[in-house]
Amino acid sequence: MTSSAPTISLSDKDLKSVKTDALVIGVGRGADGPVLAEGSPLPRALRSQLVDVLSGLGVTGATDQVVKVPAGKDLDAAVLVLTGLGAVPTGKARGYDHEVLRRAAGAATRALAGTGSVALSLPTADADGVAAVAEGALLGAYSFTRHRAHSAGEQKSPVADITVVTPLARDKAANAAASRAQEVVAGVHLTRDLVNTAPGDLPPAAFADAVVAAAKGNPLKVTVLDEKALAKGGYGGILGVGLGSARPPRLVKVEYAPRGASRHLALVGKGITFDSGGISLKPPAGMEAMKSDMAGGASVIGAIIAIARLGVKLRVTAWVPLAENMPSGTAQRPSDVLTTYGGRTVEVLNTDAEGRLVLADALVAASEEHPDAIVDVATLTGAQVLALGKRVAAIMSNDDDWRAAVHASAERAGESMWPMPLPADLRSSMDSQVADIANMGERMGGMLVAGLFLQEFVGTVAGGTDQIPWAHLDIAGPAFNEASPWGYTPKGGTGHPVRTLVALAEAEAAR
Ligand code: BES
Ligand code: MN
Ligand code: ZN
Repeated sequence: MTSSAPTISLSDKDLKSVKTDALVIGVGRGADGPVLAEGSPLPRALRSQLVDVLSGLGVTGATDQVVKVPAGKDLDAAVLVLTGLGAVPTGKARGYDHEVLRRAAGAATRALAGTGSVALSLPTADADGVAAVAEGALLGAYSFTRHRAHSAGEQKSPVADITVVTPLARDKAANAAASRAQEVVAGVHLTRDLVNTAPGDLPPAAFADAVVAAAKGNPLKVTVLDEKALAKGGYGGILGVGLGSARPPRLVKVEYAPRGASRHLALVGKGITFDSGGISLKPPAGMEAMKSDMAGGASVIGAIIAIARLGVKLRVTAWVPLAENMPSGTAQRPSDVLTTYGGRTVEVLNTDAEGRLVLADALVAASEEHPDAIVDVATLTGAQVLALGKRVAAIMSNDDDWRAAVHASAERAGESMWPMPLPADLRSSMDSQVADIANMGERMGGMLVAGLFLQEFVGTVAGGTDQIPWAHLDIAGPAFNEASPWGYTPKGGTGHPVRTLVALAEAEAAR
């Protein structure tokens, strides 16, 4: 959409001959003060000079501390930049965590917006470490300017040219990892762009158009069901939520089916382009953040495009049910009953519990193809934020192994998630007086209640009665950053959990 991706390359040059606008090195927080942690060594004289003044400069090595100092004449860089790595790892043979490297690299490129070229020399031990630095640096090089006119010139451009300085510059795995990082981060940036776009400019039809445009040139098939097709197909959940808006709903399906793939993963993402609550209207304070209520949908789109561009050998189908949840004379009312795709009826007790209604249709549709596994991603409940805060997503699942697989991919990708239960006892709180189920139940544990609701709509494995392994990611907190930027995470759309979904697809392809 709006962001142009920075270029990335690896270099094994001596630090003193790396020509760049800014050379970034790491600083750890040691027991006795800051500890320089560069990858390739700095010139001796400069290094000892620097060590003497670090504390005096206020450099502590704390995470997110980025300090610029003169590079001096021993370097071919305009400035030297010190990025905090946090506590120096203790215990022999243990280097800095990959996520620590990602954040330190991203904090640096974020702080260096407006700088043309940046070279990073951070302490990496292997190709995965190089990948983390590349990924972090790229993730930090982001800005969203679509809606700026007169103020466009005041915005500093994201870093355009990134070099990772590493002895592994000629290593095949390291280079492959850098190229991978570029594709993954492009998916993250697409997701951020969609989330940051004003909801007035991104009604369901426009979101669907954006998917078609982004998929172009990639081995993907996009199908869009409009309101007529949804009515014909009986997608009562998506249609019910869309009733209040003048801008009709859509269901977007994106298919990636590479030759040689043996497994099939379905990704389902909540696509509420704006959540006012509907007739069960939300309070005005903070409602503007509800432009991010399509973040789950945007993340499965960002992920499937990256997966396709990387050529991952896995069949993947992404589903995004899109609707705008608005109050109006045509809106659905509390106590209305709708028939979801496949026939199950739902009493709508609260029109603000709309995500589960559109996801119900999409989960049933996704299940019809009997994929080997399903992941849904949704900014589903405020209760998720209360339980786990703004940085940790929740994973709920009907299958312990699948939950563990998703969690392991999140860990590898550097995105925080934590398992949550689906206590069957809570199901009866959604018993309806008139329909098969109500869209609301017990308020306490609201995140789990929502998860249990979704579980009802997960279908069975091909030719069997077991439910398809399914995981539900509630990303209400981590999808949208209203606080200050940190590490590689900007304000606004974060792109969580695109990296997890890509890592998961790669893991599934390899098994
Ligand atoms: N989109 C919201 C959930 C949300 C809240 C996301 C805060 C991000 C930040 C969702 O549609 C919603 O309104 N959920 C209700 C459900 C309730 C009415 C059962 C909630 O969590 O309050
Ligand atoms: Mn809502
Ligand atoms: Zn919502």
